Amino acid sequence: MQKDDALDDLLSQLKNRQEQLAEKHGRYVPMALKIAPDLDDEQIQGIADAVRRHRMDGVIATNTTLSRTEVAGLPNADETGGLSGAPVFRRSTDVLKKLAVALAGELPIIGVGGIMGGEDAAEKIRAGASLVQFYSGFIYRGPDLVSEVADTLAKMMMKKA
Ligand SMILES: Cc1cc2nc3c(=O)[nH]c(=O)nc-3n(C[C@H](O)[C@H](O)[C@H](O)COP(=O)(O)O)c2cc1C
Repeated sequence: MQKDDALDDLLSQLKNRQEQLAEKHGRYVPMALKIAPDLDDEQIQGIADAVRRHRMDGVIATNTTLSRTEVAGLPNADETGGLSGAPVFRRSTDVLKKLAVALAGELPIIGVGGIMGGEDAAEKIRAGASLVQFYSGFIYRGPDLVSEVADTLAKMMMKKA
């Protein structure tokens, strides 16, 4: 899906449908594209150009990784599928940072991938995210993670003001 033509085709069809539905129901529902953390600089730039061109409402960076570098040698490291949680944090935040530069604030980015504590969420915001999301952290930390992230981000915003 991240290959140029396939992505262009998908976004164009989704955008058309979004517009039709907005007209039919009188309500515009924003649509964000979620991307992988396993992208090189050229792919990141290509995606940034495509989401701008198709007037997407945001980008979610990122999904799980196919890489096993961060867990090499650990039990079950060779299992297939997407890897989430702490091992995806660095890779995911690097993609977010590059995407933020490529988008130059034109579209909001939702930062997700390896947020296990408040400071991780703060780093996503510093890297260019407007919002954060976590999935694996919620499993390991439970609902306390929500208040910890909210407190850390509130303190960060207060320091800025
Ligand atoms: C078991 C599992 C199921 C997931 N299912 C979806 C899904 O259906 N759609 C989606 O966009 N992302 C899905 N994800 C990806 C997460 O939303 C998230 O982007 C990714 O796990 C990285 O964040 P995390 O480190 O906080 O888990 C799933 C992740 C896991 C671990």
